[in-house]
Amino acid sequence: MTGAPKGLVLAGGDGTRLRPLSFAMPKQLVPVANRPVLLHALDDLRAAGVTDVGVVVGDRGAQIRAVVGDGAALGLRITYLVQDRPLGLAHCVRVAGDFLGADDFVMYLGDNVVRGGLAPLLADFAAGRPAAQVLLARVADPRACGVADVERSGRIRRVVEKPADPPSDLALIGVYAFSARIHEAVAAIRPSRRGELEITDAIQWLIDHGAPVGGSLFTGFWRDTGRVDDLLACNRELLATTVHSVRGDVDGASSVRGPVRVEPGARVICSQLVGPAVIGADAVIENSYVGPYTAIGPGCVLAGAGVEDSVVMESTSVRGVHGVIHHSILGRSVDITSSPPEPMRHRLVVPDQSRLEIG
Ligand code: DAU
Repeated sequence: MTGAPKGLVLAGGDGTRLRPLSFAMPKQLVPVANRPVLLHALDDLRAAGVTDVGVVVGDRGAQIRAVVGDGAALGLRITYLVQDRPLGLAHCVRVAGDFLGADDFVMYLGDNVVRGGLAPLLADFAAGRPAAQVLLARVADPRACGVADVERSGRIRRVVEKPADPPSDLALIGVYAFSARIHEAVAAIRPSRRGELEITDAIQWLIDHGAPVGGSLFTGFWRDTGRVDDLLACNRELLATTVHSVRGDVDGASSVRGPVRVEPGARVICSQLVGPAVIGADAVIENSYVGPYTAIGPGCVLAGAGVEDSVVMESTSVRGVHGVIHHSILGRSVDITSSPPEPMRHRLVVPDQSRLEIG
């Protein structure tokens, strides 16, 4: 490989598993530790020296563009590639054909968090010069993933997408390194039973045509944020490395324990903060409790409320709610208040496919 490979980040698709959150925003923009998942992926590429990056977007590309822009602020040069319909991961490679040309590239699924996986993957790819190098992780239920059958040497014998009867517990996870041979493969394969052009089928095509495909075992933190519990796990993982810094205002009647990042313009009044946590810019926390592993978005208001192990997005307010909201995700501009005491009655305005657990 000469120089750094290009990057290809997949930020289309329809995010059905993350409804109702994905009704309002593409799943790749859901914030973890107050930063959209997609930007964490772009940060990883930049850190690995990959700066020429194509971003595949679907029908909600405008929202992605509004957040990522031309990439200059992230130290990247971004080219947007429009996919008319979410026809699969290999279809994304077809869509990106002109952008990628004959260059090596690293493909990153824009809804995945893979901490520290890129450097070992690229090192193995550069050392072995295979047609493709994939990152593999042991998972409890491989039926939800692409799965690899691997020789002792690390060379891959077979890959299969979401198999009912998995050949191993080794899942293909969110980053892949490819040589230009993948273009032949994505051009040759046909849609799978679920109607998508699968990247696993393209990788299998390479294997069937005698091209070496390597697997790099990854033991670090990895999650596909397509589900609420995984999103919260990512939030915890990324908050765990919070560096304590107070750039907002915390009054003398408040207490702060553990690493908490209080962003500029935020005000903490007569409240208790227990880190790791982040309080977004211009948020107001008054007579409230913010517990460990909580990300409070910019412009939020907590008044007489408690939140822990949660993601609270931009401009949301929680006022006068008895008890602690925990292990929860609140979208943008949500308004939660208490109602006058009327035993056994709740007043709710809830959009389609929401999930509420009322104790
Ligand atoms: O998360 C790892 C898994 O990701 C792998 O184990 C599987 O082999 C791989 O197929 C993929 O499976 P998913 O079903 O989780 O993929 P998903 O549909 O969530 O798409 C992954 C990313 O690619 C996501 O950011 C959406 C984007 N995408 C997806 C499709 C189908 C596109 O941009 N265009 C598409 O057509």
